[in-house]
Amino acid sequence: MHVPVLTQRILEFLNPQPSQNFIDATAGAGGHLKAILEKTGPRGKVLAIDWDSDALKRIQSDLSADFKKRTVFANDNFEHLREIAKREKFKRVQGILFDIGLSSDQLENSQRGFSFKKDEALDMRFNLQHGLDAKKILNFWSRQDIEKTLKEYGEEQFAPLIAKAIVQRRSEKAIIKTSDLVKIIEDATPKWYHRKKLHPATKTFQALRIAVNHELEALQEALPEARDILEKGGRVAVISFHSLEDRIVKNFFKQDQALRIITKKPIIPSFQEQKLNPRSRSAKLRVAEKI
Ligand SMILES: C[S@@+](CC[C@H](N)C(=O)[O-])C[C@H]1O[C@@H](n2cnc3c(N)ncnc32)[C@H](O)[C@@H]1O
Repeated sequence: MHVPVLTQRILEFLNPQPSQNFIDATAGAGGHLKAILEKTGPRGKVLAIDWDSDALKRIQSDLSADFKKRTVFANDNFEHLREIAKREKFKRVQGILFDIGLSSDQLENSQRGFSFKKDEALDMRFNLQHGLDAKKILNFWSRQDIEKTLKEYGEEQFAPLIAKAIVQRRSEKAIIKTSDLVKIIEDATPKWYHRKKLHPATKTFQALRIAVNHELEALQEALPEARDILEKGGRVAVISFHSLEDRIVKNFFKQDQALRIITKKPIIPSFQEQKLNPRSRSAKLRVAEKI
């Protein structure tokens, strides 16, 4: 089950009050959503967005009647934030939350090949109706583009070796399953790399997921739209799990004239939270306020 990250800090910074409206741009398993709804009764509404329709269905079946009544669900990509907010009549809100990446539910139960620990088809799309899946990247992209993706989005030091091995293997047999890719990575990288704490496939899987879902581009599109939708004094909070995402958020907050930075340094989970929820280890939270 997905455990929400930095929930108390999110409540502290967004400070939801009775009858205020919010946007949860990445509703996921609904953990942060419920925490906000708890504080915003009796009339506060939350626009709950997720690109994954399964995630929204699960939340819908899980929320109490009161919470459901005060939640508007949107199965959409937050890169269209302005349009979604307009469509759903969330003109101005007190706070907007982005908790980027994928949820533990998606990793463990979606059967979309997010995890190198499971033998599943290599899909990795958050939304199965849109875009190209990981299989297409692996079987059709050029060696150079695959190498660039692994380098840029995964910071994978063996990107050239892995890309070369992918191209070689696919000329014999299509790469279809996560186990195919894990084997290619293991064969292409040195033995000492396999003895490290991080599994040798971690960075490649992360890079492919980011590429498949255009994760960095979506964030870049969404941040200025989020700023426009905020009330004066309203806040945008972003939890990221990757240095590239964190850099996008940091630079946007720094350069945007309409925002005041609230978190001079990124907030990270306490030692205790990291111990209880290992997924939280790489989380970084940044918050800014509209002036
Ligand atoms: C880390 S989870 C969010 C967990 C959530 N905050 C909670 O407390 O349960 C990230 C979610 O964002 C969704 N997501 C990722 N990129 C998205 C995008 N561009 N637009 C909308 N949803 C997105 C994923 O499908 C996933 O469900």
